Amino acid sequence: MKYFIGNWKMFGVPKSIDILNKINSFYSKDKNIKKYKVIIAPPYTLIQTFARYFKNKKISISAQNCYQKDHFSSNTASVSPYMIKSVGAKYCIVGHSDNRIEGDTHEILKKKVQFALKNNLKVIFCIGENKIDKKNKKTFIVLKNQITKVLDKKLNMNNVIVAYEPIWSIGTGKIPSENELVKTTIYIKKILIKIFQKSPSVLYGGSVDENNVKLFKQIKEIDGFLIGGASKSSKKFIDIIKNYYR
Ligand code: PGA
Repeated sequence: MKYFIGNWKMFGVPKSIDILNKINSFYSKDKNIKKYKVIIAPPYTLIQTFARYFKNKKISISAQNCYQKDHFSSNTASVSPYMIKSVGAKYCIVGHSDNRIEGDTHEILKKKVQFALKNNLKVIFCIGENKIDKKNKKTFIVLKNQITKVLDKKLNMNNVIVAYEPIWSIGTGKIPSENELVKTTIYIKKILIKIFQKSPSVLYGGSVDENNVKLFKQIKEIDGFLIGGASKSSKKFIDIIKNYYR
């Protein structure tokens, strides 16, 4: 199963549901429908309406983040996995570099993953090295650390998806070379197999668009994509899927 996951970040108002409607009509009629899943992560403000509207349709809804506590508490402006689940989301992104930069530590992320899974959300766990790590050839060390500090064998790996997103690639139009990406994805899967015996799906994210997706389809180790900028346009998002299966 491949994944095409859209991360809307700080984008969207109620009428943006039109974008999802277009993606959903394409997806429900696509002859390749059985081969992949489409998940969209709108901001918190839209989860409930979108999840309700798409409940019996093909698209699934994800949150972009969650707070590191289970249920209710006195943390102003925070939203817990329990609250996210209660409005119909099925997935939750955890550890996006935007949130790591804002202070999400390994300890915090461990709690987020744990509580999201406890509340029956599937977790899309993001990892990735920055430009300096890459320049200093520290990519593998950084990735290993990000994985092993947060994921452990007690977690239900069937509900975990890992998204490899090199920070230098997010929103920049820069992507890793095919060779680099193959090596890194194999390395990530090796670490995950050590923990879980078997590897969860590993996605690539960072400047994926309708043109460069053709380069990624040769790489069989990649189980799908986490798509930021290009997921805000139904045409671009649909073209990514079309070009991937062309
Ligand atoms: P991008 O974002 O596709 O705009 O590079 C990816 C992400 O941050 O998930």
